[in-house]
Amino acid sequence: MYTSKITGLGHYVPENVVTNDDLSKLMDTNDAWIQERTGIKERRHIKKGDGNSTSVMAVKASTIALERANLKPNDIDMIVFATLSPDMYFPGGGVEVQEMMGMRTIPALDVRNQCSGFVYALSVADQFVKTGMYKNVLVIGSENHSGGLDFTTRGRNVSVIFGDGAGAAVVSRNETGKGGILSTHLHSEGQHKNELSLRGPSTEYWVPEIIEDNPQENIPYYPVMNGQFVFKHAIVRFSEVIKEGLEANSLAVNDIDMLIPHQANLRISQFIQHKMKLTDDQVFNNIQKYGNTTAASIPIALTEAWEEGKIKEGNLVVLAAFGSGFTWGSAIIRW
Ligand code: ACO
Repeated sequence: MYTSKITGLGHYVPENVVTNDDLSKLMDTNDAWIQERTGIKERRHIKKGDGNSTSVMAVKASTIALERANLKPNDIDMIVFATLSPDMYFPGGGVEVQEMMGMRTIPALDVRNQCSGFVYALSVADQFVKTGMYKNVLVIGSENHSGGLDFTTRGRNVSVIFGDGAGAAVVSRNETGKGGILSTHLHSEGQHKNELSLRGPSTEYWVPEIIEDNPQENIPYYPVMNGQFVFKHAIVRFSEVIKEGLEANSLAVNDIDMLIPHQANLRISQFIQHKMKLTDDQVFNNIQKYGNTTAASIPIALTEAWEEGKIKEGNLVVLAAFGSGFTWGSAIIRW
């Protein structure tokens, strides 16, 4: 049995900054409402013609992660790609990355677990490396939300929250004998599937006539969210799954050097921090700049925290996520 380790991190966000004031020109909202409820000041949106897409951003983030891991695309044995906004409904984004990066005919697996997608993907990678089946797995979270949201007043409770971007991590066999991914913990509760959801193609909601005849008047092809319900469940599940991970490794909250929560909403992160009695130095947030980028939020935040020198060798890093499904999970990592 081997252990696995994150050996390279990278992120990419589109250049186009969209402020809360920019959104208030499209819908009845304002900077004060958005900041007070979510902590978000601005987010990045792909701009038509800038060449970006979910898979293109994934390749940009992955290229950086591979360089930092001192690996070439041909060294990667598997891709695990977490996204809820793939360029094509099928096939998934993993095969696009395989093609764009000129990789061998390695397996490419898409994970469709929304906000907890990256933690699920990391867990999958960890299992393949631990068993010895693969040596280097590329784990990606990438999202293009701006292409699929309702930017009218009707969709304002959802569309102000989300942003575009990508993050990637190389998970490798741990040759150092020290640290690595200690454990991952995953959960789901499908009874709440409708509280944050988007009905998809091949359902009765997506008949072509609806979309072609009246694109602005039919909500079923935009995401729907019961915000307060999501909030209440998120704060409970986040704390539970962090504690579960710590206990599994005989660790305590005090042992955490850096908690990277999925950037759902700054109020959720602050609530967890307060409830778990963590200091400001123990929690990293960047939702203020990027909004909620679902599967990309943890790898973007992890990369930024590492780039800023806030994660050092030997540190205990905890990743935790909660999202649509509901699904949630944590990863306990000794850096
Ligand atoms: N701008 C201005 N007003 C708005 C906006 C907006 N963008 N959106 C909603 N409103 C209005 C509503 O229409 C409502 O008006 P009314 O009182 O006249 O009916 C009022 O603001 C309050 O609406 P609520 O939905 O009750 O607002 P709430 O205080 O619950 O805040 C929010 C909404 C921010 C979504 C909150 O419920 C929340 O943070 N929920 C957590 C969900 C979350 O973070 N989701 C992220 C994705 S899921 C994940 O990543 C885990």
